[in-house]
Amino acid sequence: MADVKHFLSLFDLSPTELGDLIVRASELKAIQKAGKLHTPLQNKVLAMIFEKSSTRTRLSFEAGMVQLGGHAIFMSPQDTQIGRGEPIEDTARVTSSMVDGIMIRTFAHEKAVALAEYSSVPVINGLTDLNHPCQLLADMQTYYEARGSIKGATVAWVGDGNNMCHSYINAAKQFGFTLHICCPEGYEPDAAVLANAKECVNVSHDLEEATKGADLVTTDVWASMGDEQEQNVRVAAFSNYQVNQHVMQLADKNAIFLHCLPAHRGEEVSADVIDGSQSLVWQQAENRLHAQKALLEYLLVNPE
Ligand code: CP
Ligand code: NVA
Repeated sequence: MADVKHFLSLFDLSPTELGDLIVRASELKAIQKAGKLHTPLQNKVLAMIFEKSSTRTRLSFEAGMVQLGGHAIFMSPQDTQIGRGEPIEDTARVTSSMVDGIMIRTFAHEKAVALAEYSSVPVINGLTDLNHPCQLLADMQTYYEARGSIKGATVAWVGDGNNMCHSYINAAKQFGFTLHICCPEGYEPDAAVLANAKECVNVSHDLEEATKGADLVTTDVWASMGDEQEQNVRVAAFSNYQVNQHVMQLADKNAIFLHCLPAHRGEEVSADVIDGSQSLVWQQAENRLHAQKALLEYLLVNPE
């Protein structure tokens, strides 16, 4: 549908809008911490379609809608006609006739795109195989709170060229930082995603080179949801790509560590890093709530 604002990738907002959203997220956090009510979404309803598991995304969207004065409805494929093959276009038309916004977590990104195309209300990408833009809002908010503007900073992505890596590539372009991606051969990010941000991103297989002097070091699981059957092969391929104290010592002395979670201690990150003083992962996870409240406010208060 024309003229409906969606959030399927970081490119659906301009760099200025993204920057404003991060500032707003921290304002909403302060309002929440002060115990003040802020309910601009009274009587608004968000439908949440989850075709993959979730803790943080489900909790943060549901709690966020309630705190903003609205309501959220959880829809799983097991309990709806989505799991019995009803076309996504029909689901989009019907669902959007009853609610004010739709969040979807699914496998193929094209499904989220089709949902948005046939929806008369904003659609939010809560993770697809291609990207995870809501997580980047929280990550950018966390960096902003800890270190100020990320513009001009150096970020090291260690590990799989997956959906999170793709969103970091998009973020490098939109927020203006340099991204060093370091992955095993054969696990590089998507070429088209990379090509779109080639001026600010490079890919290597050299962990020390990629992390040297970084202001932010981040990683993700070696086998994402949908890749579980490759777990053993991936453990072998990624065994030299763990973020541990040695890696953090190569980074800037004030570097922070982020991980979208859930994490596998002893695989992509050592326990002493994720539970150590440079790790801001709990603040990052909490910021999912505040960053998405800013997004919901932006998309649903004045949807036209
Ligand atoms: N980081 C993240 O999206 O977590 P969940 O899978 O628990 O939602
Ligand atoms: N790359 C991970 C992120 C989970 C939040 C996955 O897709 O499973």
